[in-house]
Amino acid sequence: MTTRNGPFKGRSISVVNDLSIDEQRYLYRKARLLKEDLAAGGRADGFRIADPDYSAYLVFLENSTRTRESFRNAAEFHNVRVNVFDAATSSFAKNESVTDTFKMLIGYAAESCFVVRSKLEGTCTWLASRLGPWAAERGMSVPSFINAGDGKHEHPTQEFLDEFSFLEQRGWKEDSIHLALVGDLYHGRTVHSKADGLRVFKEVRVDLVAPPELTMPPFYVDAMKRNGFEVRVFESVDEYLAAGNAAPLWYFTRLQLERMGDSVLEKAPRLRKAVTFRRELVGKLPDGARFYHPLPRDRLAPTIPTWLDDTALNGWDAQSANGYYTRVVEMAMLAGRIGQDFDGTAKESSLPDEDFVVEAPVAPSRKPEYKVGIKPVERGIVIDHIASGEPVTAIWDRVDMIRRVLNLNLRSSHGVYHSNRGPELYKGIISIPDRLSFGERELKKLGAVSPGCTINLIEDQEVKKKYRLGMPPRIYDFDDISCANENCISHPKHEEHIAAHFLRKVGTEGGSTYVCRWCEREHDFSEIWSLKGRG
Ligand code: CP
Repeated sequence: MTTRNGPFKGRSISVVNDLSIDEQRYLYRKARLLKEDLAAGGRADGFRIADPDYSAYLVFLENSTRTRESFRNAAEFHNVRVNVFDAATSSFAKNESVTDTFKMLIGYAAESCFVVRSKLEGTCTWLASRLGPWAAERGMSVPSFINAGDGKHEHPTQEFLDEFSFLEQRGWKEDSIHLALVGDLYHGRTVHSKADGLRVFKEVRVDLVAPPELTMPPFYVDAMKRNGFEVRVFESVDEYLAAGNAAPLWYFTRLQLERMGDSVLEKAPRLRKAVTFRRELVGKLPDGARFYHPLPRDRLAPTIPTWLDDTALNGWDAQSANGYYTRVVEMAMLAGRIGQDFDGTAKESSLPDEDFVVEAPVAPSRKPEYKVGIKPVERGIVIDHIASGEPVTAIWDRVDMIRRVLNLNLRSSHGVYHSNRGPELYKGIISIPDRLSFGERELKKLGAVSPGCTINLIEDQEVKKKYRLGMPPRIYDFDDISCANENCISHPKHEEHIAAHFLRKVGTEGGSTYVCRWCEREHDFSEIWSLKGRG
C-alpha cells in the first residue's frame, strides 16, 4: 500500500480559507491533471487512496443531490470504505449531540474523512477543532472534516468547483476575472464564499445584481472590498445591462424566498423578474458570455430559463460535472495521497496571541480627582476613559455594562465626567476602593467590553501604575458570552453545549469586531455579552 503523508493529511476544509491561495491553486492544478487523464482514458491511479481501512462518511443532515452524489462517487473512485450515514434513523432523533455522534463514528475506522452538510453553521469548524485533538490524544488518526454546506454560511467545495470552472473557461489564466453574481445574494452561501474564493485571480471585478430585499450582506461586500475586488451594485438584470460593460461570466443563484417572511413573499413576482434572464436580453450580452449556477434550478421559476440549456451560454452542466474532479482531489489531499509536491505558502493555522494589556505612562506626582462618593480614592482601582468621546447615553450604558459583566456589586462609585481631550467630550469612570488588582479573566472581560479604557492603581491618592486595555484577541471560556447567530452550532438554543469563542478582527479603518470562531458571524464587542451582561 502507498504511504500517505504530506502537508494536507488530516486537515479539514470547513471554510474556503482553510486552504491558502497557493493551496487552492494546487487543488485546481491537480483537478485539471485528473480530469485530463480520465478524459484520455487513463486510470489516474496516482490519485487513489486505495486503502480498505480508510473510511469516507457522508453525513447529510439536509437534502442534497449534487454534493452528496459527487462525494459518494469520488469516495468510490478512491477504493475506500464508503458510508452514507442515515440521519433520519440515527440517534439524532434521540437528542444525541453532534459531538457525541462523530466521536463514535471516528472509532469505527483506522482513518476517517467526514463530509458533513448541516443547517447548523460552523459545524465542521467545531468538529475539526474539538475532535482532531481528541483523537490525537488517544493515539487515533486525526479525522478530516469537509463542509458540504452549513446553513447560510459556506459551501467551500462548491466554491472550489466554481473557481475551477471559471479557470477552465478562462484557459487557466489567473490574471483577472470579471463576474456577475445574480439572484438571491442574501441567502446564497455559494455567492458568500466568492468573497474569498475569487482571490485566486489577481484582479477581480464583481457585479452584484439583486433587488434590495435580496442584496449581498455587507459583511461579504466589505470582505470583497478588503480583498481588493472592484464591486458594482445593481438592482436588476435590466439595470445591469443598461449600465454597460457587463461581465462575460454570470453566476446565477436560486431564490430562497421560503426563508423570508410573508411581506417578502408578496413581492416574489417582482423579485424573480429582477434576476431572471429573458429572451430579449441575449443580444445585450458580451461575446463569449457564459452562465453558471450551483444548481438546483427551481423547476417552476428558474433564474436561468430552460430554453438556454442547449445554447453556448450553458456553462452550468460542465460546472456541475467538475464537482467530481475537484472532490476526488480534495479527498486525495486530506488523506495525504497527494500533496508531497506542494511548494507554495501554506495556510497559517495558529490562533492569535493574547497580548492586550499595555502599561501606560503615569503623569509625575499627579493627584487625580478620582472619588468614591465625595471622598478622594485613597487606595484602590479606578477604571477610567470608559467609552471616551462617545455620546453621554452610550457612556452610561457602557458603565452599566461593565458593572454587570464584572459583577461589581460592591461599595464603589461611578459617573460620567468631562474628558481632558476636549470641552464637549466625556468619559466614564468607575472607582473601586480597597482593591489593587484584577484577575486575568476580569481584565479580559473589561478589555472586551470597553476597549481603550485604562486601569489605574491608586495608593496614597496617587496613580502608581496605569494600564491601557485593548480588545483581547480571543474571548472564550466565559459563561455569559454567546454568538448572536441563532443558526450557529454554539447558540444555546441548539443545546449542543459548545462554548462560544470569539476572535478579534481588525477592520480596514482600524476598528475591531469579534467574529464567532465557529460560524464567523461578526459582532460588535458589546453584542457578545448575551446573558447576564445585558441584564
Ligand atoms: N450545488 C449544490 O450544493 O447542490 P446540492 O444541494 O444538490 O448538493
